[in-house]
Amino acid sequence: MALPLLQVALDNFSLSDALESTRLLAPELDVIEAGTLLCLATGAESIKALRTLYPDNKIVADLKIVDAGGELANMACTNGADWVTVMCNAANATKAKAVEAAEKLGGEMQVELFGNWTFEEAEEWKKIGLKQVIYHQSRDALNAGGSWGEENMKVVKRLAEMGFEVSVTGGLTIDVLKLFKGIPVKCFIAGRNLRNPADPAAEARAWKAEIKKYWSE
Ligand code: 5RP
Repeated sequence: MALPLLQVALDNFSLSDALESTRLLAPELDVIEAGTLLCLATGAESIKALRTLYPDNKIVADLKIVDAGGELANMACTNGADWVTVMCNAANATKAKAVEAAEKLGGEMQVELFGNWTFEEAEEWKKIGLKQVIYHQSRDALNAGGSWGEENMKVVKRLAEMGFEVSVTGGLTIDVLKLFKGIPVKCFIAGRNLRNPADPAAEARAWKAEIKKYWSE
């Protein structure tokens, strides 16, 4: 089973704050995400800057697209995104347009799983050409008392068994990673708990070591 990748979510409100995080973290990371907050605050400028500064990392634009799939995927990939997120609740026509636009530029779409969706719908996404999903626990739900547990693992496992490449995110801590042991997670995506420690690089190294402990190639 491949080692899960480590991705930081840059949910900053300014590009300079985001770049301060990547200055410390980038050497330890596989994937760098222009977070939804950063994209909304700064537009495509951040995607372009990350692409230019980090040519060897995968760059994600977490646009959480719900409409205008073709136009937004085109905008993100033109500015250097490798992967772009589309919401599971977006119309399939939006997803299809986004896939077409991203693939034209060598990019790939990821379906962000939030709220209500079904495995039957997920089968439809595969037909549209979507290969990646992100299983996401909302930060607001977690703040209201949610947590990671067995029920989440069952869903992630089933998605992987359906053939999706599954990334996971939402309030992840280093202690949660081992719950996914035995599941082929594509990326662990963390924002605050990678960016905010006093020594972010040491924290990222500790996450990588934890991943190596429970997964072997
Ligand atoms: C919010 C997001 C976040 O980027 C993602 O949940 C990771 O952030 P954190 O680890 O801080 O919860 O997509 O919608």
